[in-house]
Amino acid sequence: MDIAILGIESSCDDTSAAVVLNGKVISNVTATQEIHEEYGGVIPELASRAHQKNIIPVIEKALKEASIKKKDISAIGFTQGPGLMGSLLVGGSFAKAWAMAKNIPLIGVDHMKAHVLANLIDKPKPSFPFLCLTVSGGHTQLVVVNDYDDMRVIGQTRDDAVGEAFDKAAKMLGLPYPGGPLIDQHAKSGNPHAFEFPIVKLPDLDFSFSGVKTSLLYFLRENTEKNKEFIAQNLNDICASFQHTLVQTLLHQLKRAVKKAEIKSICLAGGVSANSYLRSTLLSEAEKNKWEVFLPDFQYCTDNAGMIAFTAYHRFLKKNFTSLYVHSDPRLESFSI
Ligand code: KG4
Ligand code: ZN
Repeated sequence: MDIAILGIESSCDDTSAAVVLNGKVISNVTATQEIHEEYGGVIPELASRAHQKNIIPVIEKALKEASIKKKDISAIGFTQGPGLMGSLLVGGSFAKAWAMAKNIPLIGVDHMKAHVLANLIDKPKPSFPFLCLTVSGGHTQLVVVNDYDDMRVIGQTRDDAVGEAFDKAAKMLGLPYPGGPLIDQHAKSGNPHAFEFPIVKLPDLDFSFSGVKTSLLYFLRENTEKNKEFIAQNLNDICASFQHTLVQTLLHQLKRAVKKAEIKSICLAGGVSANSYLRSTLLSEAEKNKWEVFLPDFQYCTDNAGMIAFTAYHRFLKKNFTSLYVHSDPRLESFSI
């Protein structure tokens, strides 16, 4: 019998629904929320209202694209956490109501685990164990992945996530939210060595991005005091240099993690893994160091329900279901479910 999983993702500002049929993602539909652009960051109350507006059309579209009828859905997977409480509640309540009404299993998914497992959706894919560098707007983690249900964080950020550093830098440069992709774009025409920012190298496998963000703030303040047009005249070079610093910081700790974990099979996960400079730098490091690198398809890098439905499918196979009394958990500890 076919196993069809409907997945729902609503942890932050993307409303997404997907269908996984017998382990294959056959639809993956995401509605992004432009409303946050003018505020320079996600406004939680506006995000949950937009999720409420988007969730039904997004699910209808995902079912239509998959040519799946509601009655043929075997189970429903949803993002249980971490994320914004109001946002999580929209997807969570919808999933619970559906599971109850249709009397099918409910599967609460850890958003961070789903980001990691997104690497196993399409071929070529890594075999276990592999090392995953998860880089998103809320997290920066180095994870040893032994199996679908056996993952261990060996390093993480002590303050800001790398995506947050990208977005806050973009805000200082007058670029709209989310600024990460725009920095990536501008950097393509800039010189990564035009300006220098500190690369923070912590002695363990952790990261810190708050210092480099402050150093950009002081750098911009000092230079715009002397020349009001400084940012406009140097935007591409600033983006390229700041991006270079963030990527070098990530790679420095990744190299140490490879040695410590003795694993040479490496994956990226999370929104920042869409960054073209991170991808190309990682690939050239891999060639130098004889690492095997797997990069997720762009649609599975940023928040998406494909990865949620895929993770739920593997939980379904193990009959690892979630009670209808489950609570959404904005601070869900990584890999606890
Ligand atoms: O994983 P994700 O979609 O949401 C979270 O769970 O946080 O990641 C969003 C983050 C944002 O900070 C966004 O600016 C960043 O991913 N991002 C990028 C790029 N595309 C998305 N950062 C740098 N370069 C990109 N091309
Ligand atoms: Zn995410």
